[in-house]
Amino acid sequence: MEILLAKEAGFCFGVKRALDLCIKTHDEGTQFVTYGELIHNKQVVNNLLEMGISSVEHLADANSQAVLVRSHGVPKSLYGEAKAQHLTLIDGTCPYVQKIQKLAEKYSALGYDIIIVGDKNHPEVIGISGWASGIVHVLDNAEEALELPNIAKGCIVAQTTITDAKWQEVLNVLKTRVTELTVHNTRCEATRVRQESADQLSKEVDLMLVIGGKHSSNSKKLYEVCKKNCKKTYHIETLIEIEMINFSNCDKIGITAGASTPDGIINEIINALKNMH
Ligand code: F3S
Repeated sequence: MEILLAKEAGFCFGVKRALDLCIKTHDEGTQFVTYGELIHNKQVVNNLLEMGISSVEHLADANSQAVLVRSHGVPKSLYGEAKAQHLTLIDGTCPYVQKIQKLAEKYSALGYDIIIVGDKNHPEVIGISGWASGIVHVLDNAEEALELPNIAKGCIVAQTTITDAKWQEVLNVLKTRVTELTVHNTRCEATRVRQESADQLSKEVDLMLVIGGKHSSNSKKLYEVCKKNCKKTYHIETLIEIEMINFSNCDKIGITAGASTPDGIINEIINALKNMH
């Protein structure tokens, strides 16, 4: 059995940065909680819990002196709410996400509708929406874009983890719906290179494993990308799940991992596969 790891896989810059900030803040002795689980990875979240770092879904539940914002970012209002509650806000928002928040703030102040291509329930998208002062539309596909009324001025941005195909299909519809359209392709470079290398690798292998949290948006996208090329694509989160997979007649196994998957888990799975045969 040959095991091939995608050229680009695992932790992205923004997730690593937020995690480093979390550990550094802990080591400095600050009492804090994270606003939402820091990353979409149960093992990492459990490790943080063991260190005494828990997460809250609402600021009111923060029983600490500070709250750390994860890489997804938060609505602008949360900064004011934290201040009102005398909580120090430690900002782990990925700079690439911050850039989109600033675009939403700037263009909505100029009278543009903000159009976000992405998942309306994803924290990153909720955060970006919360920086716009005017109308926001969140579109997940071309069908939703077709339902939009005609818009005079629109600023289109992307959730960082969407696929290029999704971005293009929505953009094509919007070109016919919005009179003055300003386009900002804010897909993240880290996402793009991960998706491209997963796309390439999944064409060459018999079976593809996507390692990442089941709620991780970018891991789900990697799964979609790979599944198109390789029918035997599996999205797994932990080592134990490989026991459920039938590897017979699969000589070449490809591996990729979402942006919130630590190297330790990737290596653990690679070693277990090597020991299978
Ligand atoms: Fe930031 Fe891109 Fe990662 S936006 S959090 S570096 S996927």
